[in-house]
This record gives sequence, C-alpha cells and structure tokens, in this order.
Amino acid sequence: MELLKPLLTRKMPPFLPDKHHMRTCYCGEINTSLIDQEITLCGWVHRRRDHGGVIFIDLRDREGLAQIVFDPDRSEPFAIADAVRNEYVIQITGKVRHRPDGTVNPDLPTGEVEVLGHTIEILNKAQTPPFQLDDDHVHDDIRLRYRYVDLRRPVMQHNIRLRSQVARSLRDYLDGLGFLEIETPMLTRATPEGARDYLVPSRTHPGEFFALPQSPQLFKQLLMMSGMDRYYQIVRCFRDEDLRADRQPEFTQLDIEMSFMDEAEIMNVMEDMVRHLFKKNLDVELASSFPRMTYAESVERFGTDRPDLRNPLQLIEIGDLVADVEFKVFAEPAKQDNGRVAALCLPGGNTLSRKQIDDYTAYISRFGAKGLAYIKVNDINQGMEGLQSPILKFLPEDRVLEILKRTGAKTGDLVFFGADKKKVVNDSLGALRDKLGVDLGLMEGDWSPVWIYDFPMFEYNEQEKRWDALHHPFTAPQSDDIEALKENPGDGLSRAYDLVLNGSEIGGGSIRIHNPAIQMAALDVLGIGEEEAKEKFGFLITALDYGCPPHGGIAFGLDRIVMLMTGSSSIRDVIAFPKTQSASCLLTTAPSSASEAQLKELGIRPAKKPKAD
Ligand code: AMO
Ligand code: AMP
Repeated sequence: MELLKPLLTRKMPPFLPDKHHMRTCYCGEINTSLIDQEITLCGWVHRRRDHGGVIFIDLRDREGLAQIVFDPDRSEPFAIADAVRNEYVIQITGKVRHRPDGTVNPDLPTGEVEVLGHTIEILNKAQTPPFQLDDDHVHDDIRLRYRYVDLRRPVMQHNIRLRSQVARSLRDYLDGLGFLEIETPMLTRATPEGARDYLVPSRTHPGEFFALPQSPQLFKQLLMMSGMDRYYQIVRCFRDEDLRADRQPEFTQLDIEMSFMDEAEIMNVMEDMVRHLFKKNLDVELASSFPRMTYAESVERFGTDRPDLRNPLQLIEIGDLVADVEFKVFAEPAKQDNGRVAALCLPGGNTLSRKQIDDYTAYISRFGAKGLAYIKVNDINQGMEGLQSPILKFLPEDRVLEILKRTGAKTGDLVFFGADKKKVVNDSLGALRDKLGVDLGLMEGDWSPVWIYDFPMFEYNEQEKRWDALHHPFTAPQSDDIEALKENPGDGLSRAYDLVLNGSEIGGGSIRIHNPAIQMAALDVLGIGEEEAKEKFGFLITALDYGCPPHGGIAFGLDRIVMLMTGSSSIRDVIAFPKTQSASCLLTTAPSSASEAQLKELGIRPAKKPKAD
C-alpha cells in the first residue's frame, strides 16, 4: 500500500519511557535518533510475515508504519506474535535498531530502523477485515458500511487530516482579519437556496415543523443588521436534492458575511484567503490575480458558468453565417431567439475514428443534442477538396470557408457543430468540451481559478412557468429600478459572483438587498406575494427597516475545496461519514422508522404501508 507522506506529524508528548504511558511514540515517528532506546508502540497489525522462523509485524497507526521483529529466542512473545492477524490491536515494547544492510526501505519514513520486540500484548482481536486495506477497488457500499475500516486507509487518513488542516487555516486567517465565528440555529425556518427542505416535526407545536437550514443566509444577514460587521462560520447545510459526485444532502460551508463592503472588496479579500489556503496547505502559488469573466462571456465561450480554464477548447458562435443556408438543422436555430449554432475546433482531431465520433454523439445526446455534425480538415489549403464531412453537401462553399476561418481550424483539425435551443447547445458542447479535454489530455496547468460575475437576476423555469432566482432571493440587483425589475425580470443583472476552480463551483455569494421595497419586488417576481413574503420572511423584511447596513458575503463549499485539493473524484472521499447516492447512511442504516409512540407524541400519523394485492 502506498503510504502518503504524513501531512503534519504531531509529535507525541516528549519521549518519556514512563510506565503510565500506553505508548512512548507513534509508529510513524521512529527513526535513527531512537537507536538503542526501549520504546512502546500501539497500533493495528497491518501485515504479519513469517520469514524463516522470524516474525515481522508492520504495525500501523495514524502516523505511519513501524516494522517490529520477533525472533524465536523469546518464545512467549514469539508465540503471541505468531498468533496475531491483520487488524488486531496490539501493544509492543522493544529496542530500536538499524535495519540490516540491504533491508532498508527508502520508501518508508521509518524504513531505516526496526524494533526488536521484547513484549507483545494483544489489546483486542479483530475479525478478518471485510476488505483488504490496500485494495483500491472495493465497492463503495462496502466501504461505507465499514467506514471505520475504510478510514484506516492512508489515503482516507490523509484526506481527513487535510480537511482538518484546511478548516484550521481558514479559521486562523479569518480570525486575523477580525471576523467573528458565530453559530446560527439548525432548527429553523425554510431558507430558500433552491432545494427541498429537511423537516423536523415539533413535539411542542403539533403539526408544525422546523426546517434544517439549506444555508445560514438569513441569519448571517441579520447578524450584519446586529452590527457584528464580519461573520464567518464553518457550518453544516442540509439540502434534499438529487445527489452527484460533488453534492451531499448534508455538506459543509465556510459561510461569510461583511458589512460596508462592495463586491470588488469582498472578492479581493476572498481571493487572498483562497491563495493563502493553497499556499499554506499545498505549497501551491495560485495566480496573483484571479481572472474575472461575465456570466454571458462564460456561457458563450464555454457553454457553462463554471468553466474549466485549464481546457483550451472554446465554443465559437457561427449562427450569423448559417441563418440563411438551406440546411435546416443549422438555419432554424440560427434564426430563433432562444436558438444557437456553435462550433468547437479540436486541434489534431481529424485522427478521431468514426466510432469515436459516434461515441461522442451518443455521449452528448443525454443533454438533448440530436446530432453532432463535424468537418475534418485534411488539408486547409485545398478548399472544399481538403475537407471531409457529412454536412458539406448542405452548405455553400463560402460559408464553410468562413466558418473554418472563424474557428481558426488548421490542417489536421476537426470542427464539431451544435445547433439547437441555446440550453441544449451550451449543455452538450460544454460537456463535450470537458470530455475532450480529459480524453485527449488537453488540460494545461494544475489550478485555474476564475470569478464569474454579472449573473442574470432571474431565469425562467420553463417547466413550472415561473421565474426562479439564479442565486437566491436576497441578492441585490445591479439597478434599483423596481419597475424595470418587475416588467423585464429576464433582463436584470445581479450583484452576485461565483468562484470557480478547475470547472467546479467552489463558492458563491452576492451583495444583498438592504432596501425593503426592493426586497418585496424581488420576491414578487418570484411569485411570492406580499402576504406570503410577510409570513415567510417577515422577520427579515422588518429587520431591514430597523437600520440595515449595506452588506454582502459568500459561502464556499468546504467539501468541494478539499475534494479538489486532495485530487479526489467524489466529495464522499473527504467526508468522514457521508451518505449514499440515495441519501442514506449505510453504516448506521439511517434513516429508519420511528416507533408508534414517538410518532404519536409528535402528532404524526404514519403513512400506511401499501397492502400487497
Ligand atoms: P450556494 O447555494 O451557491 O450559496 O452554496 C455555496 C457553495 O456551497 C457548495 N454546495 C454544496 N456542496 C456540497 N453539496 C451540496 N449539495 C452543495 N450545495 C452547495 C458549493 C457552493 O458554491 N447562501 C448562499 C451563499 C451566499 O450568498 O453567501 C449559498 O448557500 O461549493
Ligand atoms: P442528418 O441530416 O440528420 O443526417 O444530419 C447530418 C449531420 O448533422 C449528422 O452528422 C448529424 O450528427 C448532424 N446533426 C443533426 N442534428 C444536429 C444538431 N441539432 N446539431 C448538430 N449537428 C446535428
């Protein structure tokens, strides 16, 4: 098993061979400075080997592995050592010595030394573990069911430790800037962030429910109105939404709010914090100034508002060149307001096989794309003769050449096309861009942060036939023109900003509305009339009337940041006890049913189980 370098070796209390100590140092701490010293170690049997009458035990603890040797001269400890099995918890004493010539292990921090065991005590036996700790292909369900075994794996120990270190350094940094860490309630009212709430029934108010917070949004705003000026909290948030690799139903935010600051100041402070975080924990120097891009530019060039800028591929608008051609697949969307025709030039792409192109076509069909037209550029100097494509026959030569010019295509390249509703083209070509970037190894550089700003205030929800807040309903519009906001909700921009790292949205925030009339107007656009607004958010709207400073803030997804920092493919790998895809905990088998007595006390009648026919 590959052992990761210890992140922060926290030394045991000074080396004192005191009979009251269960151990004198960590396994991973032993080195040549302890030669000839008698030490006591505790840990898990990582491996036991029988080498021609000598028994070797690799003893593991949080800090690493130590090799213990038992020779048959000491018959009693030898017999015990012979009997131990993997994952037994043992205590040994022995003398540290150099490993014999030729047996030094340079890959192990403790690899120059070993301990000649004098005594061994089995503190606890262990069943054969449900999986080998060095097996990297164990099914996730098994890992989660036996999470305490899974967490013993060095990679998980590394992740959980980095997470602790990241939280520590964020706290230190913010404390240094005068931020106050303030807790906000977990049993509260709905805090709309666009997901379903987790509800908790109230016993003392039968038929009424608390909601677990989707974020502390409203409380942190109230804290600004309370004059706290700078607030932060590392806080659990709860969202009952469809899970993905970067989403959990309960997750952790670094939540921040500041008074009397505009978006530029907030973004600068936060950018410095993120730079500090990477420098301190990974020794990585992020860019001295993060690029900033409008939402509109990001969507046009990358099809998404969370672009991975390590990927050099870009979407190029060609609607104006194909609006009047006979090829309806292109001409129709090019003419429609909500349509788009875009190209994506893949350098060196004309070596892609028919099968590969078919696979990419199938891949983007899940985003609604009805096809994936392409042109292979065999020789750019030979006009139409040098091209190969199923759509050439539908397009006039001058347009084809103009398209190629605009995309910058060269000999050996391949140009893909998407034509459909804007959303379909953006989603499908955006996803294709991501996939090609990974499949063909096009990514440049390791870390690529970018701020996205100038978001629309609202977006139209076609299914529900209503406007949704793109960020949340408390985000300030750029213009204070209430009439314009109400009349053309789709046109207004907000004072929101997201921080995107390597294609992952790691943080999002905004300047908030601090004027009650604008707040009511924003809620009105969302279909929340005066009465409902007062019922749901009356406390906030009232508070806006009692001296509310201009304020704004941001929340970072701590799990996502640590996922990126550790190179993990899922946030589950950086959360000690995560939930499954279906939002359950396999370890504790939560959620579970409640007793009838409990439900009665809460005034809840259980839904009847459907009867079998
Ligand atoms: P937002 O909803 O953008 O903003 O959330 C902030 C950040 O939290 C992370 N995140 C998640 N991480 C894991 N699992 C989830 N289900 C999940 N949902 C969100 C993301 C995201 O960028 N109150 C506002 C912040 C503000 O305006 O200050 C809010 O919660 O990294
Ligand atoms: P067809 O005329 O349907 O055979 O399509 C000709 C070519 O255009 C094929 O390569 C299709 O994959 C492609 N195509 C079809 N519909 C679209 C679309 N909406 N966007 C991009 N390419 C498409």
